[in-house]
Amino acid sequence: MLSSPNVLVVEDNEELRDVLADVLAPISASVRAASTVAHALPVLREHLIDVIVTDICMPGERGTKLLAYSAEHQNDPAVIIITGNATLSDALEGVHLRASDFLLKPFSKSKLCASVVRAFAELQERRASARLGTACNAECLQLETLIETLDACEHDTCLHSLRVLEYCMHLANHVGYPEAEFPALARAALLHDIGKIGIPESVLLKPDRLTPEESEVMKSHVLRGVRIMERVPTLRESLPIVLHHHEHYDGNGYPNGSKGKDIPLGARIFTVVDTLDAMTSDRPYRRALSFVEARTEIQRCSAHQFDPEVVNAFLALPTETWEQLRGMAENSPQLHDALFMWLMRRNPAITNPSDSYENRNQIYA
Ligand SMILES: [Fe+2]
Ligand SMILES: [Fe+2]
Repeated sequence: MLSSPNVLVVEDNEELRDVLADVLAPISASVRAASTVAHALPVLREHLIDVIVTDICMPGERGTKLLAYSAEHQNDPAVIIITGNATLSDALEGVHLRASDFLLKPFSKSKLCASVVRAFAELQERRASARLGTACNAECLQLETLIETLDACEHDTCLHSLRVLEYCMHLANHVGYPEAEFPALARAALLHDIGKIGIPESVLLKPDRLTPEESEVMKSHVLRGVRIMERVPTLRESLPIVLHHHEHYDGNGYPNGSKGKDIPLGARIFTVVDTLDAMTSDRPYRRALSFVEARTEIQRCSAHQFDPEVVNAFLALPTETWEQLRGMAENSPQLHDALFMWLMRRNPAITNPSDSYENRNQIYA
């Protein structure tokens, strides 16, 4: 779980914009700034933003337009409204479109920081529950057991699963994947290589090229995985994605040689991020490629290995996004904690921002 948010400050007053950015910098992973809604929208499309702090009255469109943007994306990012002269209709719009907070100027720096920290914590909870839905406790236990087994047998595969989960959900969002199918996609991303349990280490960890026979053993992880997962009723909707996660758009993949749109969309999305992570991770026989190199390679394989429409959505996102998502996955403090976040709805612990902001000057309009 990433512990600090990527923040976007939208404020037309340059001086105040700089103050807000300075105040938020110590509690943020990054702070970007825009002077109008028109400038903010491209930033939102190109960067991973967790929390928007926006003024309402600015030249051009009102800041509440950003609430509508957030509402369209399942209230992601979180939006905090700051204003010097709120009207009742602004407040009602804020409530209706689920603003995370409404701060009336002047407000203290500590209040602003606390509001951002709280909004980010709530957003993380929303993202976690959107990924896996409200999984019941029995299912949590089954999933947890499966993933712990995978982690014990194949730790690198488990880390790979955590990263592709982050990548996959992000790309699915950009491809317009049906919201109702996100939980099944998330489970598939997390468990797609579960069939590697049971593949002999001599094959799984072999530093050299596999022989044709060893390659067949390795490929068997797909059907092994399907057989493990079909025993868990709540994982059945994820089976088509796991079954097709090594199929190629041109029909040259395995296990069935399925082709084009016969491969479920979830699997066509997943296979791009699965390859992205494989290319950008060290292997015993080669060093990791950079994200820029991996991007070029994915573009080259468009229409062969990958669905060109999915590749276009992938290429529309900047390289930096994937690096940030990798950081999010790898910053999960413990596998157990990460799992807990994904599998269960819970109230996230809200950490207090640094006390050094207490009793400092107030921020005025
Ligand atoms: Fe696989
Ligand atoms: Fe994989």
